[in-house]
Amino acid sequence: MKSKTIQLSILEYNSLKELPEDYLKLLETATFAAKNAYAPYSHFNVGAAALLDNGEIISGNNQENAAYPSGICAERVVVFFANAQFPENKILTLALVAFQNGKDMTEMPVPPCGSCRQVILESQIRQNEPIKLILFGSKKIYVIEDASLLLPISFNKNMIL
Ligand code: THU
Repeated sequence: MKSKTIQLSILEYNSLKELPEDYLKLLETATFAAKNAYAPYSHFNVGAAALLDNGEIISGNNQENAAYPSGICAERVVVFFANAQFPENKILTLALVAFQNGKDMTEMPVPPCGSCRQVILESQIRQNEPIKLILFGSKKIYVIEDASLLLPISFNKNMIL
């Protein structure tokens, strides 16, 4: 028997001032997207912005439904949109931000849920290049260089193909 340790490495920033300029552009786009979220049940507006390798920045937000499980998170909206509209392009960076009660930015960064991690990782494997995640909070910002770090020991296509 041997023990294996899996490490998650996160860059942690305490202020927007410490961030590179291009991250702020993604925050702006994700914030705008969050404002257009359809979240009448949770009042938790999430915005996601994706930088593609053609320089395009696209965005998505959460879309809820009276039949709760039919709704979908902001991350999957933007990743599926990227793959639908730009199948030849890679997602370089995915930025996330969320607002509670439709208005207050969360203090801590909002991490993608399990289903979104699965979907983000599939895109990363498909494009064969890491997707960087920038998770914005008003008190902390996390940068994770590779989406696979958020889903160790994943179920992926290598298992079934
Ligand atoms: N949500 C997201 O859009 N992304 C996340 O990372 C976490 C949760 C949405 C789903 C639902 O509309 C609301 O936030 C509350 O869970």
